[in-house]
Amino acid sequence: MPHRPYVIDPMISAKSIAARVEELAHDITDHFADTEKLVVVGLLRGSFIFIADLVRELRLPVEVDFLEASSYGDSTKSSREVRILKDLRGEIGGCDVLVVEDIVDTGFTLNHVVNLLKSRGPRRLEVCALLDKPSRREVDIRATWTGFEIPDEFVVGYGIDFAQRNRSLPYIGKVRFTS
Ligand code: IMP
Ligand code: MG
Repeated sequence: MPHRPYVIDPMISAKSIAARVEELAHDITDHFADTEKLVVVGLLRGSFIFIADLVRELRLPVEVDFLEASSYGDSTKSSREVRILKDLRGEIGGCDVLVVEDIVDTGFTLNHVVNLLKSRGPRRLEVCALLDKPSRREVDIRATWTGFEIPDEFVVGYGIDFAQRNRSLPYIGKVRFTS
């Protein structure tokens, strides 16, 4: 389906992202300092670049797993129904778990995923989100650690897409329609 033409206005530079990822990794390393193993769960697909950068800054024994939940489909409208499209490969009962999400928007996706994973009896479960749009929240949930709070804009880049496009941009920008 063709889209209205748009441009991407830079919002958060690659350099700022890298600096913030380092800070987040430092805080997460402190929090889980005594862990035997931290299972880092990336929510596909938007978190794939963030998780890759984040785990390389963690000074902890880490395992990586992925989970895919449906949220937006191919539009910018959030849907309330959250489905699990791809589940974890490993068990997390008794484990330390860090869920890594790209954006917390209405909160429906994260709320659903956190409840699901908590029902499996992890020892500890925390959430790190790169971006948060607090003004959009409909479910009372927040990440333990947040990279950046942003206004109600549709953003792309650093793994985040608009209808599967623009994930490979090294920075985060906002979508602005030109017609
Ligand atoms: P929520 O369930 O409304 O919190 O939606 C969260 C998910 O919607 C995120 O994990 C993203 O995949 C997607 N999303 C929310 N805002 C944006 C955006 O500005 N750009 C691209 N995807 C977004
Ligand atoms: Mg997502």
